[in-house]
Amino acid sequence: MIRLTFLACLLTIVVTEYPPLEVNFQWNVIKYSDRVTDNEVVKDSPNSYIAANNVISGIKLWKDYIYLTIPRRKSGVPVTLARIPLSATKAKNVTSPDLEAYPSWDMQLAGDCNAFQSVQSMEIDPQGRMWVLDTGRTETMADYQATKCPPRLVILDLENGGVVLRNIEFSQEIAAHNSSNLNDIVLDHQDGGYAYISDSGPEPAIIVYSLKDNKAHKVTHNSMKAESDAITFVVSDTTVKEPINIDGIALSPPEPNRTLYYSSVSSIHLYAIPVKVLQNSSVRNVQKYVVDVGRKTSQTSGMVMSNTGVLYYGLLADDAIAMWDTVANQIFASGPRKMYRNHQLLQWPDTFAFHENGRLWWVTNRFQNFLNNKVNGNEINYRIMSSNVMQKSYQYFPNGTAPELPIITAAAGQIRIAISTAFAILLVFVAC
Ligand SMILES: *[C@@H]1O[C@H](CO)[C@@H](O)[C@H](O)[C@H]1NC(C)=O
Ligand SMILES: *[C@@H]1O[C@H](CO)[C@@H](O)[C@H](O)[C@H]1NC(C)=O
Ligand SMILES: *[C@@H]1O[C@H](CO)[C@@H](O)[C@H](O)[C@H]1NC(C)=O
Ligand SMILES: *[C@@H]1O[C@H](CO)[C@@H](O)[C@H](O)[C@H]1NC(C)=O
Ligand SMILES: *[C@@H]1O[C@H](CO)[C@@H](O)[C@H](O)[C@H]1NC(C)=O
Repeated sequence: MIRLTFLACLLTIVVTEYPPLEVNFQWNVIKYSDRVTDNEVVKDSPNSYIAANNVISGIKLWKDYIYLTIPRRKSGVPVTLARIPLSATKAKNVTSPDLEAYPSWDMQLAGDCNAFQSVQSMEIDPQGRMWVLDTGRTETMADYQATKCPPRLVILDLENGGVVLRNIEFSQEIAAHNSSNLNDIVLDHQDGGYAYISDSGPEPAIIVYSLKDNKAHKVTHNSMKAESDAITFVVSDTTVKEPINIDGIALSPPEPNRTLYYSSVSSIHLYAIPVKVLQNSSVRNVQKYVVDVGRKTSQTSGMVMSNTGVLYYGLLADDAIAMWDTVANQIFASGPRKMYRNHQLLQWPDTFAFHENGRLWWVTNRFQNFLNNKVNGNEINYRIMSSNVMQKSYQYFPNGTAPELPIITAAAGQIRIAISTAFAILLVFVAC
């Protein structure tokens, strides 16, 4: 009896060390709310919708909305960028809401290169501009080549109905049009603004986009490749043995030695590189700047850093979420702590995001089942969860204030980036 009480006490302590974990939404299958003018795109019709292929992946928040991505890895995904209203959904006490296509159904049209083809990640800056990565292809995991549009970065204004502010297409040299896989994005608002993008395609890279110069270059290194000893792992009795290159990236908050952290899914190493090196396109070989920070206890998909320098990331084979306070304990060997571990709720934490109010949110999607063609629509597969860690995103200064952000106007135009090719075309984007 005494022993039991003691154990209970211990459990309480362990549990209360971190803010409680909350399941905010959960779904067996993802569905979409009706198109407003319903003539062409039919939601959930047998031809355009295959439930098991609609896997939520990316999550970001802005004001009263959660924005989600549904990458088109296989066929039957009618919407690739969507949102759910927070307070309205809460008021209705709905835990499995239909997703709304965002910014419109027209922007979801596969085969139309003005619309999004397959979105895996996006980021929202502190002025409500969403930077969306469109891989340009659909059915990226199929054996055949489906739609081929240029991979691009599109900046939408969430404060103005999602109007397109910029459309940056990447050339073949930056992101191969038939094989690149734009995976994750972080934003740096210093020095005129940069976006760092992971490309997990067969030639993995970090793409660096300078907003000020409207130019991109890419940085490659062996550390961005899948590592053979980490390809195979088990999540909840299901074996994953797919080599997956650089995936999750995280940026430290604004500081003199600002650092980008990254890891392949098929690697247990956490790597880091100073952004000063990434920004300098004349550094040809980054070998001497890449830091092998240390070995995690498992593979990781997405990760995120807070404005106070705390890194949050999933441990896939452990159904867990870990944190590493890089300020309090700079030594990785002794720094990380396991925050949450739950074999039912935390299967494959995929992406993380902060709300401005200090809450950390994430998506779990049991991706091991999707990889093995065994998604079961009679079980809960997708969850949106959160925890009030009382920190902000890495985009903010440690004291919580937002950096000064460059103004991005629609007048700047639709720009095709084609460095070292003769095809640089400037198209004027007409906002209508
Ligand atoms: C909301 O739903 C939960 C679970 O279905 C139920 O327990 C609760 O009473 C509901 N609350 C309201 C206000 O309807
Ligand atoms: C992809 O494009 C590159 C460059 O244009 C080309 O060399 C390669 O053969 C293409 N691969 C496939 C699978 O189409
Ligand atoms: C900068 O950050 C890297 C990566 O975390 C670290 O290895 C290096 O020691 C830091 N340099 C300084 C001067 O703090
Ligand atoms: C960029 O890298 C080149 C080559 O290593 C170096 O000579 C130059 O000083 C660097 N520029 C900056 C601004 O650090
Ligand atoms: C917050 O920190 C930034 C960067 O150090 C500084 O520029 C700013 O003045 C600070 N703001 C406040 C309110 O302390």
